[in-house]
Amino acid sequence: MKSALLLLKIIFVLLIISDYGSALYTNCGGLLEAEKGNIQTPNFPSPFPTPINCAWVIHNPHPEKKIILYFTQYFLKNSFHLSEYDEYISEHDNKGIKYLGEMNYINQFSSMAAYKPYLVIRFKVRDMGNMHLRVEEFLKDVYGFNITYEVVNKEQNIKEACSAHNCSFLGHCVANSIFSDYKCQCFPTFFGDYCQYGPFCDPSNGKNMCQNDGQCR
Ligand SMILES: *[C@@H]1O[C@H](CO)[C@@H](O)[C@H](O)[C@H]1NC(C)=O
Ligand SMILES: *[C@@H]1O[C@H](CO)[C@@H](O)[C@H](O)[C@H]1NC(C)=O
Repeated sequence: MKSALLLLKIIFVLLIISDYGSALYTNCGGLLEAEKGNIQTPNFPSPFPTPINCAWVIHNPHPEKKIILYFTQYFLKNSFHLSEYDEYISEHDNKGIKYLGEMNYINQFSSMAAYKPYLVIRFKVRDMGNMHLRVEEFLKDVYGFNITYEVVNKEQNIKEACSAHNCSFLGHCVANSIFSDYKCQCFPTFFGDYCQYGPFCDPSNGKNMCQNDGQCR
């Protein structure tokens, strides 16, 4: 009887440990005051720790400027929320919030602009579970995101940047060092401006899996 009780106690303790065993990871995010930069999940493109809770705050002190985010590499189903503020000191001390929406790979936006002085990106994931986007089974997995931002004059046009869907989810969209140009960098064995060609689709070598004169991509 006593040993059965002890066993139950041990099981109970183990259950508690397994549920709270992984601590919330918050060593990420922060205040960004440079005029351009990258924002990425810890360890990108490898898995990020979970559960995770990060907030990046981009500050644009110039009333004549706006903040533009380019969603170059985004490989998550959702979990990324954007809000802009007139003033932002902390999660509990801020003014003039405007919620801008949730980012996910289905939205297919390549970019987004914020006109208030603070743009806050909130990223919260409990476990990797179904969050993470698998492209095709034979591909190396990519986890999380790596995006760029720029603070530019309000009248400046948003650039024709790419994002994961422009690269057919088969490559990384990357900016050059001064963020003036964006291009797809295809995963191994894929190629083409949009990574539209690969082992099963290589029309210049006579490989075309589409029938009836369809163009594969
Ligand atoms: C990326 O895709 C979006 C939406 O389909 C499109 O508007 C944009 O022009 C594309 N960008 C490039 C560089 O092809
Ligand atoms: C993150 O994005 C920047 C800008 O597009 C790129 O230069 C850099 O190589 C990317 N990092 C990784 C690990 O893909």
